[in-house]
Amino acid sequence: MERTIYPMSKLKGEITVPGDKSISHRAVMFGSIAQGDTRISNFLFSADCLSTISCFEKLGIEFDTDQAGHSVVVHGKGLRGLKAPSETLFTGNSGTTTRLISGILSGQDFVSRLDGDSSIRRRPMNRIITPLSRMGADITSETGNGCAPLVISPSTLSGIDYISPSSSAQVKSCILLAGLYAEGKTYVTEPVLSRNHTEIMLPCFGAEIISEKTDRGWTAAVTPPSSLTAIDVNVPGDISSAAYFIAAAMICPGSELLVRNVGINKTRSGFLEAAMMMGGNIQILDRRTEGGEMTADILVRAGSLHGVTIGKELIPSLIDEIPVLAVLASYAEGKTVIKDAQELRVKESDRIETTTAALGAMGVNIRPTQDGMIIEGGAPVHGAAIDSCMDHRIAMSMAVCALAADGPVTIKDADCVGISYPSFYTDLQSLA
Ligand code: S3P
Repeated sequence: MERTIYPMSKLKGEITVPGDKSISHRAVMFGSIAQGDTRISNFLFSADCLSTISCFEKLGIEFDTDQAGHSVVVHGKGLRGLKAPSETLFTGNSGTTTRLISGILSGQDFVSRLDGDSSIRRRPMNRIITPLSRMGADITSETGNGCAPLVISPSTLSGIDYISPSSSAQVKSCILLAGLYAEGKTYVTEPVLSRNHTEIMLPCFGAEIISEKTDRGWTAAVTPPSSLTAIDVNVPGDISSAAYFIAAAMICPGSELLVRNVGINKTRSGFLEAAMMMGGNIQILDRRTEGGEMTADILVRAGSLHGVTIGKELIPSLIDEIPVLAVLASYAEGKTVIKDAQELRVKESDRIETTTAALGAMGVNIRPTQDGMIIEGGAPVHGAAIDSCMDHRIAMSMAVCALAADGPVTIKDADCVGISYPSFYTDLQSLA
């Protein structure tokens, strides 16, 4: 489906964005292997999180879902309670589902096969196959190209001390989950701390996890528990979804917007830091913590922006927000350099190419580099027809870009926003 987004004069009022995608996935997974009923409120009912639920249904877990009430009850069966699936576990477009569930499946006494859509079939899985194999897992890429479909057969796992070459929460979480089923402790070290929702939430279910800065980077360690126990999880609003509205209010003159209940965990909030570095008028109000995750309300006003350099340590905490940061850079005076972000090449799409193609089509002076992009902002941005390349974050970023452009922007395959934010366009419309 194609959708046309028209320029908007200003955004006024307030909005509450849906629940966090990363946290929703984890609540379903950990709840499934815990004993008892895990009650999840403010769950994100999006295609990706529904892929996780559907995989665990095939593994014998029952769910009570209330989409209108944004809640899910997971009837967990305990660490050893999953059943052999009778068909392939389909993970759709979700890298988080594919990589995290592989850690759990490596510890089971049955064979499982994982597959996903055409994007998942292109995404690198050797980053989990290598460490899981070192733990003793029997996991193979069916076609031998290091991508899904993956076949996981029973084996005995032992704890390892793994140094991850990149900061990836999916890799880290996959290894920690396999570590629940291993003999001995499992350690994962990453160069910069990536999103730490697993390290925060698993201990609430009763697992012993240590996370600390060491001379090698950031190390997380898990001790295999005898059981996990169900809990209640209240999912904070997703900062990755909030970022679109914050950016929209920053670039549409006269805007003043309050975004309520946004998760601002330090490992996720790099977007706010980068937006403030660009001169963004952002206030973080009413900070509070629940279940170890910090949330706040965010007040944003339009103002003039300037180019910045974004790289190094900041990248993991804003990796999913780079397309929308490139949109901000398009409206900022001067040069913005985004570097050290080669991970963008292996996301739902190659986001270095898809972001530069879309913004380039709107007349933005942007060029791709091997590990990021360079944007000369401040010139008028034009209406155009662009391709989302079936990437939800490209579709939403370009919808935001359209709001301050000098003409309408037509987005191809605009409905891919359902991967993380099904009501995105209606929510945007409500602020007009
Ligand atoms: C996620 C981790 C990140 C992020 C993705 C969600 C997670 O991926 O980009 O959208 O929930 O663990 P990587 O671990 O590949 O960096």
